[in-house]
Amino acid sequence: MEICSEKKKALALVRSWNSRGISVGFVPTMGALHRGHMSLVEASLRECDRTVVSIFLNPAQFGENEDFDRYPRRLESDVSLLGRAGVDGVFAPDASEMYPSGFCTWVVQEGLTERLCGASRPDFFRGVCTVVAKLFAIIPADRAYFGRKDLQQSVVIKRMVTDLDIPVDIRVMPIVRESDGLALSSRNRYLIGGQRREATCLHEALMEVRDRFRGGERDVDCLTEALCGRLSRPATAEPEYGEIVAPDTLARPRSASPDAVAVVAALIGGTRLIDNMPLGGELEDIYLPPE
Ligand code: PAJ
Repeated sequence: MEICSEKKKALALVRSWNSRGISVGFVPTMGALHRGHMSLVEASLRECDRTVVSIFLNPAQFGENEDFDRYPRRLESDVSLLGRAGVDGVFAPDASEMYPSGFCTWVVQEGLTERLCGASRPDFFRGVCTVVAKLFAIIPADRAYFGRKDLQQSVVIKRMVTDLDIPVDIRVMPIVRESDGLALSSRNRYLIGGQRREATCLHEALMEVRDRFRGGERDVDCLTEALCGRLSRPATAEPEYGEIVAPDTLARPRSASPDAVAVVAALIGGTRLIDNMPLGGELEDIYLPPE
């Protein structure tokens, strides 16, 4: 496995594969890898000849009062995990390699980025779009893998590659969940004591609206009310949003259809968690067995 911290080396490595017609899959991450990340890696290993994973804790997507300083950093164990999985290349730059002095060009997307997570995190998607556009230039892959756990991020990235004519196929993969439904996230480790149990309210709220939809409810107001009501049940939960949205535009539909998605965000004891679930269709999410 090649490990690069320099952009030039990573680009040369991937170009050597591109020029020989070897297909390349790319999985961008911020490290502290868990089985959610690894499901993207496994999809790339299955579908592409070579797989590259980036590990970069991107300062540009954290707000001033957010958790950049305490976000878990585990480069060594991440790299050995990826090596054992059969990954071909790891790109792990430091901040000065990605944002050298004088850096002043940002990718700002309008519309889609202003709602849901963008409402409480105004610079978040500017940081995500900028770093992902840069990573796509450094690692010119055929396919790039994202998790549906961050639904809005995947919609924004798809729009960005269309608008900027970036020649990469965006693959959006199922959510990996603990056996009780909590979506895996690097931030779950912040949950202490009873907060871990209370954090299942996101999944429970999503399941409740999915069941109501299956029972015939199509009224978006009713479904939204049920979603937000269930989300605010635990004592330490502070719901941020609960909405029904169209999967591609993230707009509120007039009436609920099977492809509409329930999306939620809440603070549990101060830890911000997000989750989502399509209202209809077979549930594609992956539930891990109990520990
Ligand atoms: P990070 O939070 O490390 O997530 C990397 C990828 O893993 C994202 O595409 C995310 O949706 C996916 N992922 C996280 N938890 C998952 C789960 N439980 N099931 C399936 N996939 C999951 O998202 C980012 O990093 C950054 O914003 C990044 C795109 C790397 C840009 O900095």
